[in-house]
Amino acid sequence: MRKHSWFLVPALVLSVSAALIAQNKPTIKQVPPSRTNASSGAEMYRTYCAVCHGMDGKGKGPASPALKVQATDLTVMAKNNGGKFPELKVYNSIRGEVGVAAHGSKDMPIWGDVFRDLGRGDSSETSLRLRNLTKHIESMQTK
Ligand code: HEC
Repeated sequence: MRKHSWFLVPALVLSVSAALIAQNKPTIKQVPPSRTNASSGAEMYRTYCAVCHGMDGKGKGPASPALKVQATDLTVMAKNNGGKFPELKVYNSIRGEVGVAAHGSKDMPIWGDVFRDLGRGDSSETSLRLRNLTKHIESMQTK
């Protein structure tokens, strides 16, 4: 039987899925987010996103087997949009105020709230984080 494993995902709420533990599947445990440099998209990506989306952005991070919905391959956002990087869409999906389907399933955390909390409500810091993450994802696009 597969060994039970834990993945730490920074988020606001603490929640553990008891059903998954019972089935001995990898489980996601949400922990308070650590501080990162708001001007480094790469550092934030590594800290907050790679666990699900993978270091290379292709959606196969270590926690991906525990997700109900597969994490998006972030490297083909431009390719799947006629070659143009959908900057606003990406920004809004990270912020979490548009209808990303997984919001219902809570698989994709609502980072806007996490970052607002991290910056103690400083909205310019929140948007700096969202902008720099969006730029980092843009830099990962396959041609
Ligand atoms: C706990 C796992 C998890 C973490 C951590 C996570 N994501 Fe996601 N993300 C998902 C899942 C699952 C989806 C797919 C949502 C869907 O298809 O409805 C997704 C979707 C997205 C999308 C939407 C793509 C689209 O089609 O519009 C973007 C952009 C994204 N994530 C960026 C990020 C960024 C940036 C971070 C880090 C700040 C991050 N994600 C962290 C699980 C995660």
